[in-house]
Amino acid sequence: MWRQWRARLGEPVGNYNDLPGHIRKHASGKSFADIGCMWGVNGEYAFQAEEAGATRVFGVDVFGPTPEFEEKRRTRNSKVEFVLGDISRADTVARVGVVDVVFCAGVLYHHPSPFDLLVALRRICRETLILRTSTIPEVQGLPNAAVYFPMMDARARELWSLKRLGVLHQAGISNEFQASDGYGNWFWGLTPSCLESLLKTAGFRVDHRATEAFAQTVICTAVDAPLDHRLPGEDEAREMAAEISAAGVARPA
Ligand SMILES: C[S@@+](CC[C@H](N)C(=O)[O-])C[C@H]1O[C@@H](n2cnc3c(N)ncnc32)[C@H](O)[C@@H]1O
Repeated sequence: MWRQWRARLGEPVGNYNDLPGHIRKHASGKSFADIGCMWGVNGEYAFQAEEAGATRVFGVDVFGPTPEFEEKRRTRNSKVEFVLGDISRADTVARVGVVDVVFCAGVLYHHPSPFDLLVALRRICRETLILRTSTIPEVQGLPNAAVYFPMMDARARELWSLKRLGVLHQAGISNEFQASDGYGNWFWGLTPSCLESLLKTAGFRVDHRATEAFAQTVICTAVDAPLDHRLPGEDEAREMAAEISAAGVARPA
């Protein structure tokens, strides 16, 4: 009903099944990286990018490769390169380098620092980001709102359960946050407005946004990041400190 209502309003309605179409549209003749390529899909989107004509394809994940991935790679005579790594770490970013198209589905809400994850995606992205992520509905009168899930009690977590939409288990929501589950936990419920602001701050222009009740798919262009906090050198930092003290502008908050 929600889908039909939004479609009638003329809004682009998203769907997980649209992801292969986005890949086909953007991957041909481009280098491509699928970040979070493994769980339940065994690198399928990386292989689809290769089939669509991507020139070089990376699949990145914090576990794997699974036997299914290796089997697909063998039977398709594929050159998809698997990188075992956490994309929010500099060493993983360096191993991937820069690719034309970055695809990242189902990862952002699993990271405790979504801005850092988006900045990492921007670092490896030359042209286009295709991102799908779980979101929460907008909170009227509170743009850019977000909810941090860990450590909520069972009653508070119940509100964010997507069981009725067919999501059987949400680690950290269906049960208590478990440190041992790492990035398997659900960390952030971002509203679409919050997601868009994070993307813009990380250096992405949102060209297309398809909405679902609890998810967003965005196609973005990499642009100059508006936030670039440069750490000064030691001498420069000391000079700044002297100027600030002389001006008397720094007061305890
Ligand atoms: C919910 S699954 C999504 C799988 C697939 N992309 C899809 O859309 O169906 C999230 C995947 O991202 C991986 N992942 C989570 N955090 C990651 C990180 N920081 N760096 C790389 N991979 C990560 C997980 O191991 C898992 O394979």
